[in-house]
Amino acid sequence: MTHEQSRSLYDRALSVLAGGVNSSVRATQPYPIFVERGDGGHVIDADGNRYIDYVMGYGPLLLGHDMPDRVQSVVLQYAAEGPMYGVPTEVEVELAEFITRHVASVEMLRFVNSGTEATVSAVRLARAYTGRDKIVVMQGGYHGAQESTLVDGEGDHTVPSSPGIPDSFAEHTIAVPFNDEAAIDRVFEAHGEDIAAVLTEPILGNYGIVYPEDGYHDHLREVTEEYGSLLVFDEVITGFRVGGLQCAQGKFDIEPDLTTFAKIIGGGFPVGAIGGRSELIEQFTPAGDVFQSGTFSGHPVTMAAGLETLRYAAENDVYDHVNGLADQLRSGLTDILADEAPEYTVVGSDSMFKVIFTRNGGDARTDRTDHCEAGCRQRPSCPRYDACPKNGHDVKAAETERWVRLFRSQMQEEGVLLPANQFESQFVCAAHTEEDIEETLEAYKEAL
Ligand SMILES: Cc1ncc(COP(=O)(O)O)c(C=O)c1O
Repeated sequence: MTHEQSRSLYDRALSVLAGGVNSSVRATQPYPIFVERGDGGHVIDADGNRYIDYVMGYGPLLLGHDMPDRVQSVVLQYAAEGPMYGVPTEVEVELAEFITRHVASVEMLRFVNSGTEATVSAVRLARAYTGRDKIVVMQGGYHGAQESTLVDGEGDHTVPSSPGIPDSFAEHTIAVPFNDEAAIDRVFEAHGEDIAAVLTEPILGNYGIVYPEDGYHDHLREVTEEYGSLLVFDEVITGFRVGGLQCAQGKFDIEPDLTTFAKIIGGGFPVGAIGGRSELIEQFTPAGDVFQSGTFSGHPVTMAAGLETLRYAAENDVYDHVNGLADQLRSGLTDILADEAPEYTVVGSDSMFKVIFTRNGGDARTDRTDHCEAGCRQRPSCPRYDACPKNGHDVKAAETERWVRLFRSQMQEEGVLLPANQFESQFVCAAHTEEDIEETLEAYKEAL
């Protein structure tokens, strides 16, 4: 494979874009490939190299790179009729109706333009509704580029994780380890009357993938109810992916008070949304007085792409297909790890997957009978239970240098495109095939 075109494009990009990219996660080592076009489950780069793509836009592309004809046709139609108006359109009502029909906790929505905007507005709403300032987040959770959730530290000893954020933001943010019920109990005992919301991804997808232990979300639900705080599920990644159309909250049978969405609901175009009970969502202006607005919010092309994508998924066997292939991939990877890297862990659920390069203590060569066969499920009876990553801290202990410098780059040379870092989820799409899965497993075998 040669990468001369990508190299030279990156050279130009470094002169005019910070770090040569427009989102920090895209800066792969030593330089990113530049994509020329997509083709189903593959991408082709500027040098003509073809890759099986598991970045999938970092999550939005449930159907892969080729829009089905019906999706493409509504996108072109809406773009041609006039891309946007700043005046309501029917299609935003239709997408809201579709989502409220399928997600049990959501009666009403406000559309925005990104996952970040969604979590910013959800936190503002929770604070306004409860009259409290503190929020609880999970260490290693990610909720976008927002001041209140970019924190390092533990408990109420948190500091902003980026320069440029005043300490006063972190003063209101409490960070706990995921999957740790005792930690939640401690912070609620100390600060319960001041906590506006617990904000969590149902499955950690940006520092993981970490699956919730049985009963963890029920515990969050009970504690937040007891103290009058809101439970906010950030389903930006898991929404309309994990649990299919009912989302992760349906899979885990939890009704959060608020849910943030993005990625898949825009069908590949910029989107976000905050959903929940009407009584809560109606706090937003102009129905209520919690300020929320946006020039591009409810953009007709995005709404049409999202709606038609979700309708397509509802009417075809999209979820069976992607979940089945991802299961195949995760079990194949589990077998490969048994021989090549028994300390590492295969993680993921539905169409998300990853191998975490963590030697997390525990005896790697433990009896492998009755272990999770297709992605860690945090089962206490699993012989690998003590060794599998349970929170952001465990995942962070991964061999990141090995992943970035040796493994990921070799996978790319083998024709398999993975995200830039060790921590981000990888996605199977509807256009991937059994052959793609077999080729991918071969590549893992070579590169591990
Ligand atoms: C769980 C979660 N929340 C929020 C965000 C932020 O979304 P966006 O990048 O659209 O602002 C992301 C982005 O990956 C995410 O994974």
